[in-house]
Amino acid sequence: MKPSLAQTGSRRDFLKMGGLVGAGLVLGAPSILRAATGQSAPDAINVGFIGLGKQHEVLFNAVKNIPGLHFNAVCDIMKNRVGGAFSRIKNAFGNQPARYTDAEEMLAKEKDLDAVIVATPDFWHSRHTVWALESGKNVYCEKMMSNTLDDARAMVAAMERTGKLCQIGHQRRSNPRYLFTLNELLRRHRICGQIVNANGQWNRAVGSSQDIQVKASILPDKETLLKYGFGRPGKDLTLEELQHRFLNWRFYKDLSGGPISDLGAHQIDVFNWFFGMQPWRVMASGGRNYFKDREHFDNVMCIFDYATPDGGARAFYQVLTTTSAGGGYFESFMGIDGTINISERAAYTNIFREAGTAPSWDHLVAQGYLKRSAAPKAAADSSDAIASYESAAPETYELPGGLSKPPHQPHLENFFEAIRGKAKLNCDARHALESEAPIYWVNPAAESGQTIIFDTEHLHV
Ligand SMILES: NC(=O)c1ccc[n+]([C@@H]2O[C@H](COP(=O)([O-])OP(=O)(O)OC[C@H]3O[C@@H](n4cnc5c(N)ncnc54)[C@H](O)[C@@H]3O)[C@@H](O)[C@H]2O)c1
Repeated sequence: MKPSLAQTGSRRDFLKMGGLVGAGLVLGAPSILRAATGQSAPDAINVGFIGLGKQHEVLFNAVKNIPGLHFNAVCDIMKNRVGGAFSRIKNAFGNQPARYTDAEEMLAKEKDLDAVIVATPDFWHSRHTVWALESGKNVYCEKMMSNTLDDARAMVAAMERTGKLCQIGHQRRSNPRYLFTLNELLRRHRICGQIVNANGQWNRAVGSSQDIQVKASILPDKETLLKYGFGRPGKDLTLEELQHRFLNWRFYKDLSGGPISDLGAHQIDVFNWFFGMQPWRVMASGGRNYFKDREHFDNVMCIFDYATPDGGARAFYQVLTTTSAGGGYFESFMGIDGTINISERAAYTNIFREAGTAPSWDHLVAQGYLKRSAAPKAAADSSDAIASYESAAPETYELPGGLSKPPHQPHLENFFEAIRGKAKLNCDARHALESEAPIYWVNPAAESGQTIIFDTEHLHV
């Protein structure tokens, strides 16, 4: 089963890769240069936001750098967040967005909206996205598409039925460092050779995994929380319990897929995107070892197997909420000639060449595709090495440049350029679900202790 995840979007016009620009290898002028040449401002796109919590702020900090947007409407069931977003937009742009606490009302009344950005809890994504698409808007919806596969499938169906655009917020798909690594280093120059393994993780200390608390006076009342699905059918929850579910929706099985979908969505999407296929099976283990009263596992480890054209590969992934050890969050592609550790955090990104056996990369350094970096201290110090146990110390390299924008900005730019008809989406709902579908099966594999061999029923879009 090899569905096309080939939407690699070689959009190197965002690249600010110093070495490559110097070598004249960047296709097209960077957008920042085009603006400086005095081209006219792009047509304004009318934007509305649904869900004004933490991620809204992250997205707004990216969106506010993008020219040609007009902010028409904001919506959240928390009134003070509506007021906060209104002030933020007014102060930054002078726009006075209409304020809503109900998304259906906003979508019905705001006829002029071109685009809606959805950053609500995962169990709301499908309804907000489908309603917005059906009312004629283009949608940028945060990952994970939903907490259930069926609801995610409904989003793809709505995108295809309405013909509107639906970008899913896997922002690495538009990150120039990821695009460069995939298109130039892994595919064109095959610097890693045969990739036999991938590895990825998101490790967080308990301090970053605690319950979210907000003063009760600003939270929605019981009626509102029940109206917007934070209750539990057949259970009469107290206001305190409802508020806990509202703030900590990631801990509850009916509201979220837990850490493997919340955090794992990022790295596992990169596995599937870079391998260009879905895995053929998954095995997994998880536990509630520290946060014992949470519904979801607090630690999950899983292995996906891929039938790659090079002879097969497996990818190990772990999401840990009880330690920050081991280098944060990254994806690693390990081949017989080299390894690329890539992360949204530039600091976690590094590249190793198997010095003893791999072909030389000197020509790639000379052409600006890679930079040599100093050997890591541990490898340079050989006083405790036992020669017969060890491979030759790998040489270390770096990418020749980086992203000078907030990490979500290129993905949002891609969305708005697609609305203007000037780009193809880098992660539309169909491609996103091809990649996300295996993630929905990690918790069941861990709960049952059974390997799941995927068939079309598991992974179809
Ligand atoms: N791409 C990324 O890197 C990234 C990072 C963090 C979060 N996210 C995603 O962003 C989404 C939001 O996460 P968050 O951390 O901001 O959560 P949050 O709980 O801080 O914010 C969610 C907001 O949605 C509002 N809301 C809930 N139900 C609503 C409804 N029916 N109508 C309107 N508003 C409603 C809440 O009041 C809250 O303000 C999630 O899907 C999450 O997975 C993505």
